[in-house]
Amino acid sequence: PVAVAAETPAATAAEEEKKGFVDEMRAVAMKLHTREQAREGEKEAQGPEEKSPTQWEPTIEGYLKFLVDSKLVYDTLERIVEEAAVPYCRADGVANVSGIVSDAHFCCDQESRNQQDGVDAEFRNTGLERSASLAKDLEWFREQGYSIPEPSAPGLAYASYLEELAKKDPQAFICHFYNVYFAHTAGGRMIGKKVAEKLLNKKELEFYKWDSDLRQLLQNVRDKLNKVAENWTREEKNHCLEETEKSFKYSGDILRLILS
Ligand code: HEM
Repeated sequence: PVAVAAETPAATAAEEEKKGFVDEMRAVAMKLHTREQAREGEKEAQGPEEKSPTQWEPTIEGYLKFLVDSKLVYDTLERIVEEAAVPYCRADGVANVSGIVSDAHFCCDQESRNQQDGVDAEFRNTGLERSASLAKDLEWFREQGYSIPEPSAPGLAYASYLEELAKKDPQAFICHFYNVYFAHTAGGRMIGKKVAEKLLNKKELEFYKWDSDLRQLLQNVRDKLNKVAENWTREEKNHCLEETEKSFKYSGDILRLILS
């Protein structure tokens, strides 16, 4: 419930665009699906992961690799938005007497943090976070006697790319943030259901459960994304949209692990 810098000139320009920016991000993402993946998809399937999950032949080992690499990506996203609140306070030298830097309320208010360049701190605690639920799922697999693999190349590559973007390209970072979290609630859930039916005796993993109404959580994040993008120029918006392909590429490489 904190007011974000809304009265900048950029916001006025954006007001002319009736729909929010999330609609634009969604439209670009939907076109990059294959016809098999989603009704609005326009691409032809190339790799096996681009076919409908109903046709997949997943393996548990592959699925575990996918979960481990997904966790690395969520850990990274969640750490980046968590840390987004902190550097301002440190750089500003505003002493935090208790030495607790993680609670930025001690040293600077939400508004000044949101006005910084870089990743927006308001994407913390959206309720969409997946890192903790994946940790529980991996623990469950361990208890079942599976050995949990180390993160593999696709997850490591995506995590380091996200780190890089967080430092120097907030618009591109937001594109990945949107696609990763929203994809998981749509196609991700279809995949989870398929794998659970084929391999897990229908057990529903924590990865596919949210603490409160998912539709509401998604809407809250859409609202925040729209608000942040109101302060972007058209060029910055286009730059964000153009990043969508990379998001599909990196996520596709991780999805493909399920079939390995
Ligand atoms: C939405 C399927 C992979 C990003 C959707 C929808 C479906 C779907 C059925 C819902 C469309 C609707 O609202 O009716 C799949 C399948 C995939 C896959 C089967 C892979 C096997 C991906 C990937 C990304 C992605 C790799 C990007 C990294 C999105 C986004 C939405 C979406 C952003 C919009 C969600 C929303 O509006 O709430 N997908 N998808 N999807 N997908 Fe995917």
